[in-house]
Amino acid sequence: MNKSKRILVVDDDKEIRNIIGELLDMQGYEYEMASDGIEALAKVKLDIDLVLMDVNMPKMDGYEVIKRIREEADFRDLPIIMVTSISSREDRLRAVQAGANDFIAKPIDQTELNVRTASLLKMKEVQDAIKRHKSELENKVKQRTTALRKSLNEMVAAQRKTYEAHLDTIRRLAIAAEYRDEGTAAHILRMSNYAAVLAKGLGFSPGEIEIVLQASPMHDVGKIGIPDGILLKEGKLEDEEWDMMKRHTIIGARILKGSNSELLKAGEIIAISHHEKWDGSGYPEGLKGENIPLLGRICAVADVFDAITTKRPYKEAFSNEEAFETIKKGCGTHFDPKVVDVFFDKIDEVKIIQDSYSKNSVEREIPDFERMRY
Ligand SMILES: [Fe+2]
Ligand SMILES: [Fe+2]
Repeated sequence: MNKSKRILVVDDDKEIRNIIGELLDMQGYEYEMASDGIEALAKVKLDIDLVLMDVNMPKMDGYEVIKRIREEADFRDLPIIMVTSISSREDRLRAVQAGANDFIAKPIDQTELNVRTASLLKMKEVQDAIKRHKSELENKVKQRTTALRKSLNEMVAAQRKTYEAHLDTIRRLAIAAEYRDEGTAAHILRMSNYAAVLAKGLGFSPGEIEIVLQASPMHDVGKIGIPDGILLKEGKLEDEEWDMMKRHTIIGARILKGSNSELLKAGEIIAISHHEKWDGSGYPEGLKGENIPLLGRICAVADVFDAITTKRPYKEAFSNEEAFETIKKGCGTHFDPKVVDVFFDKIDEVKIIQDSYSKNSVEREIPDFERMRY
């Protein structure tokens, strides 16, 4: 059942208020009375569905009262009928401008009052229903968005955790291999960051750079399969020992082979190809130029630069200047010229990485590059 409508009657003339009140009673409406503008502005807040507004009142006339009612957002759509004995075109225009919806002439005709009141109340009912529906919809959308955001956040957190665990495993694998050889993970930390700088300079996307950064530490995982006698030997390796040493590329690729992980796939490529040389004189396959995977060509520069600028059990460290010379000399023979160009373009970033991860660069005699165990 509809709630009964409540109408605010504003008139300074008590007799007219009472007449209107009786007419509204007959229609089954509830009503409030206000004898001036101030009282009207207060009582309009009493859940009013329609206002019948006199024009001529002392202090604040009907136009002014309507204007003030309309200033409040809640009452922008409240139906207001002006009850007036004035019917000039100017007055009607003024009333519309102030915000009245309709007019009723004085003296009041009962039928006219009933018809106009009923029609505006109906209009308000429809408007209220639309507003209610809109706000219900907005609430529903809000609730669903909140729920969706919550589950998305949970999903992202879970994925992040899985990815971190994945990365952690890979890092530990790389460190395990490196630790046997170097006793430190500093080499793979620097080398992978150099490789990421090179990838960025070559125009890799952020996702691809991340893969280079996380996969390049695996370049020497195959050293796990090299006997201590060879891996830890101080001084030069015999030819047979050197052949065994070279197998770390194949062993590494075998360890990483067959995974669905993008990182392990990239690691496999890097492990097998980081000792190939641009002119085809590298190992294990003697690939030439662009037949060598780009990941391998990038890691070759990053790995060699770090190996020759770092002190190792079987050699002393090179100075940066000497290392730069070596890289330049190897351009087009050992290294891809494009990657070498990027290396020198990004030399400032390379030095920042070098400074932040290493403190043990010492200059001494030039080692044998051909048998450098990077
Ligand atoms: Fe290697
Ligand atoms: Fe290395």
